[in-house]
Amino acid sequence: MQIAVLGAAGQLGTELCLQLGDRALPWTRADVDLTNPDSVRAALTSFTGTCVINAAAYNKVDIAEEEPQVAYAVNALGPRLLAQECADRDLALVHVSTDYVFGLEADRTNPFTELDAPGPVSCYGQSKLAGEYFVRSICPRHFVVRTCGLYGLAALQGAGKGNFVETMLRLGNERDELRVVNDQHCTPTSVKDLAAAILSLVETEKYGLYHAVNSGATTWAEFAAHIFDAAGMTTRVTGIPSSEYPTKARRPGYSVLNCDKLEQTIGRPMPTWQDALREYLSSR
Ligand SMILES: NC(=O)c1ccc[n+]([C@@H]2O[C@H](COP(=O)([O-])OP(=O)(O)OC[C@H]3O[C@@H](n4cnc5c(N)ncnc54)[C@H](OP(=O)(O)O)[C@@H]3O)[C@@H](O)[C@H]2O)c1
Repeated sequence: MQIAVLGAAGQLGTELCLQLGDRALPWTRADVDLTNPDSVRAALTSFTGTCVINAAAYNKVDIAEEEPQVAYAVNALGPRLLAQECADRDLALVHVSTDYVFGLEADRTNPFTELDAPGPVSCYGQSKLAGEYFVRSICPRHFVVRTCGLYGLAALQGAGKGNFVETMLRLGNERDELRVVNDQHCTPTSVKDLAAAILSLVETEKYGLYHAVNSGATTWAEFAAHIFDAAGMTTRVTGIPSSEYPTKARRPGYSVLNCDKLEQTIGRPMPTWQDALREYLSSR
């Protein structure tokens, strides 16, 4: 049975289509625009498969602070319509969300489970949380999958806004030393591992809310140092507090996700972030 992939030209969408092979029905923004109700309805009306995966999103975390209406249109109202259309047709809907639904708990030090109360600190996080709630309340056969810091090979072809690994490799070739924030704790995740987990999850038909990231936790500074080490580069990384790297949007100080529920459901552990990074660097 075919599975439709919205955001098919993005990092995760590209990888999902690759892993699905002939079963994928790729929908790029040109095919289905989440902000255009007619295009969403038309696509769903002619769809004969069983499951839709929404990997499309408005991801510009800082710019979202200045154009919340655009972020909400793509991340909340689009998924709301998609959820309604899927519910009306009894389709399963996978909706991808983010660790940025957390952040309000400033002194948090242990990984968030699906039972923890979210508390976003940015417009992007708020818009994604609104999207989650629409999908969960409207479409009974839903998987809402929260993930973090995605990197995938499609970024090399210009997909989405790029990714942290590629940015570090580029900057590392230009400079001897980089200053990178060391007070945001999370788990950057390879789209290869995320896509495989999502496709396994779909098979189970155990609908609900899931956390899906590579296992372990790190900071962006430590992650950058590992990138340079694994890539055989000598660029030095100096850790700095977020206060020395001001951005328009606030980021969570701690947004590590506990994936026990996912791992029990699909019957295997998520690969570590170190293994995932090594695999990515060797395949690019
Ligand atoms: N990237 C991360 O670090 C990260 C972290 C946590 C969670 N996530 C979530 O993971 C999912 C996948 O992220 P990703 O990194 O694969 O994103 P990505 O590479 O930026 O791809 C997102 C795709 O969505 C498309 N899109 C944007 N607006 C659209 C609209 N109105 N209608 C239809 N498509 C639209 C984009 O098309 P255009 O290129 O034409 O704009 C792009 O192809 C998203 O839900 C995201 O929120 C990502």
